[in-house]
Amino acid sequence: MKLFDVYPLYDIEPVKALGSTLWDSNGQEYLDLYGGHAVISVGHSHPYYVRKVGKQLKNLGFYSNSVRIPLQEELADKLGKVSGLKDYTLFLTNSGAESNENALKLASFHNGRTKVIAFTKAFHGRTSGAVAVTDNPSIKAPINFADHVVFLPFNDVEAVKKAVDHDTCAVIVEGIQGVGGIQVATDEFLKAIRTACNRTGAVFIHDSVQCGYGRSGRFFSFQHSKVKPDIISMAKGMGNGFPVGGILISPAFKAKYGMLGTTFGGNHLACAAATAVLDIIKKEKLIENAAVTGQYLLDELVGFKGIKELRGRGLMIGIELEAPVKEIRDALLFKDHIFTGVAGSHTIRLLPSLALRKEEADRFLEVFSQYVK
Ligand SMILES: Cc1ncc(COP(=O)(O)O)c(C=O)c1O
Repeated sequence: MKLFDVYPLYDIEPVKALGSTLWDSNGQEYLDLYGGHAVISVGHSHPYYVRKVGKQLKNLGFYSNSVRIPLQEELADKLGKVSGLKDYTLFLTNSGAESNENALKLASFHNGRTKVIAFTKAFHGRTSGAVAVTDNPSIKAPINFADHVVFLPFNDVEAVKKAVDHDTCAVIVEGIQGVGGIQVATDEFLKAIRTACNRTGAVFIHDSVQCGYGRSGRFFSFQHSKVKPDIISMAKGMGNGFPVGGILISPAFKAKYGMLGTTFGGNHLACAAATAVLDIIKKEKLIENAAVTGQYLLDELVGFKGIKELRGRGLMIGIELEAPVKEIRDALLFKDHIFTGVAGSHTIRLLPSLALRKEEADRFLEVFSQYVK
């Protein structure tokens, strides 16, 4: 049997990794500044993470959400403490799209409405509710186009004030757009969304799937702007590679048996992985490291010529060049052995582990300077 061929692949086969270093099947070493789409948060194969997940697998890998799973409560408790959102509740899922799907569904259960406001260049995932609020017609099948979704320009405060009304079920926004090119939501924009939702009873959904979990230098990027969303979706860095996601839900929402559900969400292994990630983030002060190392990269990159715009916060960085980036990105990968990502044709995306060390940042700066200085 062949694989359904939907991914254009680089001819590289990683077989081993540690921290921000990867090795391929030929023994070639790489510096990983992309973390497999922002997934590697605490570093590849962190020994504590490996031990915790391994130990859990030896005891019990899975049982469904029909029995007591204290690991879920431990995770919720730790998440409440590290995020500062102790009064929110947690529903566990398996991916970012599923988190957004449940966030939208919960919003609609809550206020009984259907109209959703999303933003240009937004990416929220590929399941039907999530892709309907994603601004990319090429990944929507005819069944996914929904006339209940209105797209507004990202960061447009006036448009938000005008469009959010008493028919609006939810406003969904990424705090820092990832696929859209590392576009940071302004404080005014997020505050306008909060105010409009308060005024109309619409639900403020913050998609923290890519920008959350410490990546921005705060646990959640909206904490830079001092707003509190009603529902926060998470995934990616949450499990450091183990598929786990979730939504944090404000106390205004009342749970009801059967309202949401999943077979795999919150399973024992996923909880062990997610708890290990939080333990490491706390012990190794990785949120602080993301803030400091990210700022260091941004400060150093400012001096480079050929950069049209630098965007981002913490270790979520977009480097927009005057020229298309494909050749540079390929050279970084195949000649210099550094993994980076792109967004659109002109922006390089850096999404390394939150444990990225200064020497590793320096290595990138030195190599990258050949191409843009
Ligand atoms: C902001 C954002 N939301 C949602 C998703 C979807 O996550 P997943 O691929 O885990 O379904 C992504 C994935 O890139 C994302 O960047």
